Amino acid sequence: MEKFDVVIIGSGPGGYIAAIRSGQLGLKTALVEKDKELGGTCLNVGCIPSKALLTSSDHFTFVKKEAAKHGIVTDGARVDLAKMQERKDKVVKTFNSGVRSLMKTNKVTVFTGFGTITAPGKVSVKSANGDTQEIEAKNIVIATGSAATELPFAKFDGKMIVSSTEALEFKETPKKLLVIGAGAIGLELGSVWNRLGSEVTALEFLPRIAIGFDLELSNLLQRLLTAQGITFHLETKVSAVKVDNGHATVTAVKNGEELKFEADKVLVSVGRRPFSDALGAEKVGVAFDEKRRIKVDKHFRTNVDGIYAIGDVIAGPMLAHKAEDEGIACVEIIAGKAGHVNYEAIAGIIYTNPELAGVGLTEEQAKEQGIDYRVGRFPFRANSRALCSDDVEGMVKFVADAKTDRILGAHILHHTASELIAEAVSVIEFGGSSEDIGRTTHSHPTLSEAVKEAALNVEKRALHIMNR
Ligand code: NAI
Repeated sequence: MEKFDVVIIGSGPGGYIAAIRSGQLGLKTALVEKDKELGGTCLNVGCIPSKALLTSSDHFTFVKKEAAKHGIVTDGARVDLAKMQERKDKVVKTFNSGVRSLMKTNKVTVFTGFGTITAPGKVSVKSANGDTQEIEAKNIVIATGSAATELPFAKFDGKMIVSSTEALEFKETPKKLLVIGAGAIGLELGSVWNRLGSEVTALEFLPRIAIGFDLELSNLLQRLLTAQGITFHLETKVSAVKVDNGHATVTAVKNGEELKFEADKVLVSVGRRPFSDALGAEKVGVAFDEKRRIKVDKHFRTNVDGIYAIGDVIAGPMLAHKAEDEGIACVEIIAGKAGHVNYEAIAGIIYTNPELAGVGLTEEQAKEQGIDYRVGRFPFRANSRALCSDDVEGMVKFVADAKTDRILGAHILHHTASELIAEAVSVIEFGGSSEDIGRTTHSHPTLSEAVKEAALNVEKRALHIMNR
């Protein structure tokens, strides 16, 4: 039986990054993955393919709706969906082989098959052809991720009622796409298919979209997505989905009134659940919380000696970068170092156009917590580079402590928000203030100046807008 210092189960961003770090630290490392390709949900059926399609469909929107303003004539532009999908698949494949070669260079042994913990320190790997291999591990890291949540009355059939996995694979643009749940997945994939010509309707249970993000910016995003053609029904509870002869009828209740929607595809994007099915963790005594997440302490240790867990399978936001940093911290702790994740400096991003990004406290959270705070806002309309690029939708918003000026939260709605938020994340990581950003020289003309101006505006001294 082969022996390892660390056996990681699951090769998503949490697992494969943990494996790289473990290899760097000189630990004898194995990575167990049930799927043929490495990279997990994010790389194969999540973040990466969705961003590839978001980019392609965004280019199409530019060609169709914006290019003429720049004096570019693009008459007759149309979508070749097969080609678009092919490009997306190529992006995924490139990353797949990149991760595989990273395993080699970091001396990580990859086992392909379903991993089960048979006893503390023992993992059995069952491959697709039924062969079983037993491996021994001083330490086991569970990084098995999450799976799409199903609605009891609308079970996934992979054709009409689909999860994000199938909604990334449509071979034809659906005429009518009904999206249940206006969170990250619903908004991103709703955007892709809306841009490519679907009539998209999103039904959301809550009175708002993009739960977890700053309300003011979420409302602004909803207005902009509505202008792009997505229809939203908020405070709408879906009660039934009926499929008949390639056609779906969705029944929902809004303000006590029953509504019916017709669709040829229904995307269910109502959240994800931690995935640890058939892992054997319970059998060896690992404790779970009430949401079926594996319980861990601050050092990612479960209650069973030598078994750790990271990523979507434990508490916290289900985000690739959170899983990655937990993976790094976890193996550093195993190696006797001081691994740590700062949960106050983890940004969430929805890659619509404009993108919505946020880190730290929203204004509502600051209010709820009774914190004395100040807000600084700056609209991209007043930013020179945004005007040059004709990319003026959105704003930057800071929430800072009224007494100390420490930045508590930063929120950006803009085409490039996913990149711009990084500055605020770094400053929050260092415990910085809005003044720190306001006094930092930002290159001109850049979109980042809007970040500086919003920071200055915590003290109502932005330069390119009127302040009272
Ligand atoms: P989500 O939790 O972000 O949003 C689900 C939405 O569905 C919520 O607004 C909820 O109120 C609504 N909902 C729940 N039940 C409903 C019902 N019966 N009828 C109508 N609405 C209902 O979940 P989502 O979008 O599925 O994403 C899953 C996870 O994956 C999230 O944790 C998300 O953060 C992560 N993710 C992150 C991405 C990113 O960082 N860009 C992209 C995609 C997913």
